[in-house]
Amino acid sequence: MKIVHVASEMFPYVKTGGLADAVGALAGILADRGHEVSVFLPGYRAVLEHKDAAGAERRLPLKIEMGDMFITGEVRVFSPKKNLTVYLICREEYFDRRGLYGTGERDYEDNHHRYIFFVKGVVEALRLLELQADVVHGHDWQAGLLPVILRYAERRHGATLALQTVFTIHNIAFQGIFPMGSFPRTNLPGDLLGIDGLEYYGQVSMMKGGILFADRVTTVSPRYAREIQTPEFGCGLEGVMATRADDLSGLLNGIDPAIWNPTTDPLIPARYGVDNLAGKAACRGELIRQHKLKKDLTGPVFGMVCRLTEQKGLDLLLANIDFFAENLCRLVVLGAGEKRFESALAQLAADTPGLISLSTRLDEAMSHLIEAGADFFIMPSHFEPCGLNQMYSQAYGTVPLVSRVGGLADTVIDADEDPANGTGLSFPPTVEGLHDGLERALRLFRDPTRLAAVRRRGMQRDFSWARAAKAYEALYQDAL
Ligand code: ADP
Ligand code: GLC
Repeated sequence: MKIVHVASEMFPYVKTGGLADAVGALAGILADRGHEVSVFLPGYRAVLEHKDAAGAERRLPLKIEMGDMFITGEVRVFSPKKNLTVYLICREEYFDRRGLYGTGERDYEDNHHRYIFFVKGVVEALRLLELQADVVHGHDWQAGLLPVILRYAERRHGATLALQTVFTIHNIAFQGIFPMGSFPRTNLPGDLLGIDGLEYYGQVSMMKGGILFADRVTTVSPRYAREIQTPEFGCGLEGVMATRADDLSGLLNGIDPAIWNPTTDPLIPARYGVDNLAGKAACRGELIRQHKLKKDLTGPVFGMVCRLTEQKGLDLLLANIDFFAENLCRLVVLGAGEKRFESALAQLAADTPGLISLSTRLDEAMSHLIEAGADFFIMPSHFEPCGLNQMYSQAYGTVPLVSRVGGLADTVIDADEDPANGTGLSFPPTVEGLHDGLERALRLFRDPTRLAAVRRRGMQRDFSWARAAKAYEALYQDAL
């Protein structure tokens, strides 16, 4: 099939979270499986500075109608491997910036212009380069307007640009909501603005466009597919989701075994596998050393790697923070995000040296060392569409402690509830829930035979993208 992905992030070129890992791995494996895969990304500074993009060919000048103006840009192209082509929609003014979506303090004020331009640039490139896609697959709000802008362009030019469109929700909490005043820039007909169209409480929702107008809608776990049809998790779009229930499926993400595999991982100090965990002990030692944690404690080391946002349950962690000092447990957190969480954790790290450590860098190597070196990995998310780290943890023999929501519930089997199959510990996303999880982790840690069995089962699970890619293939074929 000719498959075109359209997204704002792709590992290894540009990443703020799991979206990048998911898009990079899915595109790569579909290419390996013989499909002709293209990925469209904004021409961010980070991508243009990546070595693969150094020789990117200037393929096409763009002149994009936005309201009553024409905005220029260009398409640059490079091919990282066989069957995979990356197209960059470039315009310095929009994308040659340090941050992707904002300054860290707040979002850029012209994000609506930037992503309307991006999507229109993609559609224009599909047309002028005659890519003739079987499937055009957009990801998250940045590509939300794609299915609707694509179909209107087809009508206007009398050409078919894609046989089928697919839209994947990686996180319904980020919707790309903008003032009505930005709508004319789309050049879409005004009747699309109603409540059955792009309107969302008096504003415009880009994500709603993807949900309503794509031929198929997917999200990244079966449980999250059900959750987003409820008011508790739907972020105001539950009603819209329900109208697409028949075309909605939840396809679990996978992990890229070329990158997240303890037997081959070049980013960790020692490699190991399910039959020989000596390397894991070496990684643990290195993690303790690098974070200046106390060496002479007998309790476990807990790790956490995540964006420091509400979603990730940092309030639950902070409410339970005394647990670590009371039980002489060590905790390493790697994450950047909201200042209130950064400063609370930084203060705790300063108050309890050797027990709690915080690193606010974006540090790919450190994220691998934490997965490999920790005994337990904590993910007390309030909601989690899929979550990748709990799968990485299992592959690395690190027992995940997760709240029982979304993809976390779909990928972690509780070792107390199901002693024969358990691979982790799960609990409701509450202060008491996490407390119970931490207590149960201590008990598990003190029982080496049971701990070894839980680890082994986790390491033996198949979370590979090969499985996930087959599910997407089947969906594309069914749609076609
Ligand atoms: P989300 O996409 O909601 O952030 P996921 O669990 O799907 O959550 O993916 C998060 C990804 O981002 C993981 O690969 C994780 O290791 C990575 N990550 C998050 N924060 C950092 C950081 N500070 N340094 C390195 N990697 C990080
Ligand atoms: C989002 C979600 C996360 C998911 C990732 C990749 O960022 O928050 O749960 O794993 O997308 O699909």
